[in-house]
Amino acid sequence: MATAARIYGVLLSETMDLKSYYALDFGVDAPDVCLLNPDEVTHPEEIRFAACWLPGPDAFVPYPNLEMAMSVGAGVDALLNHAGLNDNVAICRVRDPKQADLMAGYAVHEVVHFEREFTQMQRNQLAATWAPLPIGAPSDLNVTVLGNGSMGAAIVRALAAVGFSVFVACRRSPHDPIDGVTYFTGDSSVTGAVAEANVVINTLPLTAHTENVLNADLFNRLAPGAWLVQIGRGEHLVEDDLIAALESGQLAGATLDVFRQEPLPVDHAFWRDDRLRITPHIASDTMPHIVAAQVLQSARELLSGAPLSLSVNVAQGY
Ligand code: GLV
Repeated sequence: MATAARIYGVLLSETMDLKSYYALDFGVDAPDVCLLNPDEVTHPEEIRFAACWLPGPDAFVPYPNLEMAMSVGAGVDALLNHAGLNDNVAICRVRDPKQADLMAGYAVHEVVHFEREFTQMQRNQLAATWAPLPIGAPSDLNVTVLGNGSMGAAIVRALAAVGFSVFVACRRSPHDPIDGVTYFTGDSSVTGAVAEANVVINTLPLTAHTENVLNADLFNRLAPGAWLVQIGRGEHLVEDDLIAALESGQLAGATLDVFRQEPLPVDHAFWRDDRLRITPHIASDTMPHIVAAQVLQSARELLSGAPLSLSVNVAQGY
């Protein structure tokens, strides 16, 4: 199956048909890159890269000569934590600026929904009740963003543009800080940034350091009656601590887009809790044409021996 100028890859996902969803059938447009579904692979030893979204536990077993595994999304936690991937396999991810824009729109929508009490407005509408509520200045609302990667930074920009008081927890000082935004860096950045927050938005990557970061200790540092927007990964949230914070009123509610188990099981209590706003991991997505272009780019870099420009820092975890 191989020729010197051709590279072979495989599509690995337990939950999606990646080839049709992201139009990853390059055909005549890219004769040098051949991307196959597992059932189309006849010579597994010739597979040099994989494009992945939630690959199954045994997904990598058939491919002994894999050199690169690429996430079709921004998160690489499912690859970095995969027991079946050797350390010598480079990990890459798609970097799509439109994904960050989508994330910013989702986050601002949820903050404004909370700030302007739109749930109450909806109830009022159903009761044909005209009942304006007092309106405060956006700057009266302290909004904390956990993480200042491409997603976090886009959210911070959008929140600042609308006039909220924005606080950010980040690993190191940003190169391009936004006027009026307060940045907290270093080991205590999260605890510093969430103090007295009215809204916390989680965009952190999932690493050993950030797992369970949304816990009782963090909730207790917020202003009473705060709101959580959880758009990181399900494993960031200690679910029992969320329920306890809702019961005590420390949290008024939460927007949850990501879960420890996805799809969220039908019998999960979250579904029936009207203090929660639940969406099915749709806060953002990568655009298919960007995914196709960047998978192609990475495959060609691998084929030519060039540095992988979309690789992640494995030690750092993102
Ligand atoms: C979405 O969760 C992504 O990782 O792109």
